[in-house]
Amino acid sequence: MKRIGITGIAGFIGSNLADRLLSAGYDVVGYDNLAYGVREQVPDGVEFHEVDVRGREIYDLFERVDVLFHLAAKNCIADCQEDPVETADVNVTGTVNVFEAARRAGVGKIVYAESSALYEGSQSLPTPESDVCPESFYATSKLAGMAFAQAYRRFFETRTTALRYFCVYGPRQDYRRTIPPVMSAFIINLLRGRRPVIYGTGEKRRDFVYVDDVNDFHLRCIEDRATDGHTFNLGSGVNYSIGELFAIVADLLGSNLQPEYRPDLPGEARENLADISAARALGWEPRTGLREGLRRSVAYIKGELSKIA
Ligand SMILES: NC(=O)c1ccc[n+]([C@@H]2O[C@H](COP(=O)([O-])OP(=O)(O)OC[C@H]3O[C@@H](n4cnc5c(N)ncnc54)[C@H](O)[C@@H]3O)[C@@H](O)[C@H]2O)c1
Repeated sequence: MKRIGITGIAGFIGSNLADRLLSAGYDVVGYDNLAYGVREQVPDGVEFHEVDVRGREIYDLFERVDVLFHLAAKNCIADCQEDPVETADVNVTGTVNVFEAARRAGVGKIVYAESSALYEGSQSLPTPESDVCPESFYATSKLAGMAFAQAYRRFFETRTTALRYFCVYGPRQDYRRTIPPVMSAFIINLLRGRRPVIYGTGEKRRDFVYVDDVNDFHLRCIEDRATDGHTFNLGSGVNYSIGELFAIVADLLGSNLQPEYRPDLPGEARENLADISAARALGWEPRTGLREGLRRSVAYIKGELSKIA
């Protein structure tokens, strides 16, 4: 049985990945300092270590790991704009430390999370993997992490796959933080009878991809050697405006509340849209339509609220 490690396991993508791996029969070990993640989201059956990826403690904890998913990061763009030093510390130093710990422990492969934010300044839509053009501090930190990963591949022959997630959504996406990701923010506010905030005019367009579809590709990264040494965009290849997204969520919840418009948040791109031909060439296809994915997200947040009601 393969042993799979996940940094950032208490977060949105990490906890969903852990569930999927356990149900596929893998042995899962997870690492998280709970800076943004939630302990209760780490599924039973995971060997969990509460640890910071920047620390030396991780050096003893990657033993016997066959494939490591490095997902831990500081990733709210607005927070990263506020604190570039902390952003670099977690996303750059933390990433190098993870690569080094993995090298010393003899981890077979690292799959690491980059971001569509790397395309912030790109003019090409849909954007191919080659068009890297970061602007924000968050994107810049991911660029530095990417360069270190490439150096590990070059000098230590570390097997790697880089994943550029677009806007991943689904159950367990954080709805608790001050400015949650846009979908969770719409759902939680409408459920609470509050007017959700749209930053900007609602015309920004985003490529949303459902978390289970992303997990389909995660499994390929473990099993398919053709993913080694490559970078893949993971989006749906279709984008929606924030206004269109709001209309679908409001319709699903039967709400007539109108959004409140506020000035743009700093560092956010106008539009993103993934060119997913590289992932498709390996047989991957996003399966979940936006309305169906949102229905599941709504069901999740309703379930969470009923627990605290
Ligand atoms: N969700 C998306 O749409 C999206 C898009 C692009 C890229 N990404 C990237 O994917 C990865 C996972 O994103 P997510 O949405 O699950 O985020 P998340 O915030 O839900 O999860 C990140 C996890 O990392 C943990 N963490 C942060 N700093 C840490 C540290 N120093 N040591 C140990 N653990 C630490 C947090 O506690 C959290 O549980 C991140 O690298 C993110 O940048 C996500």
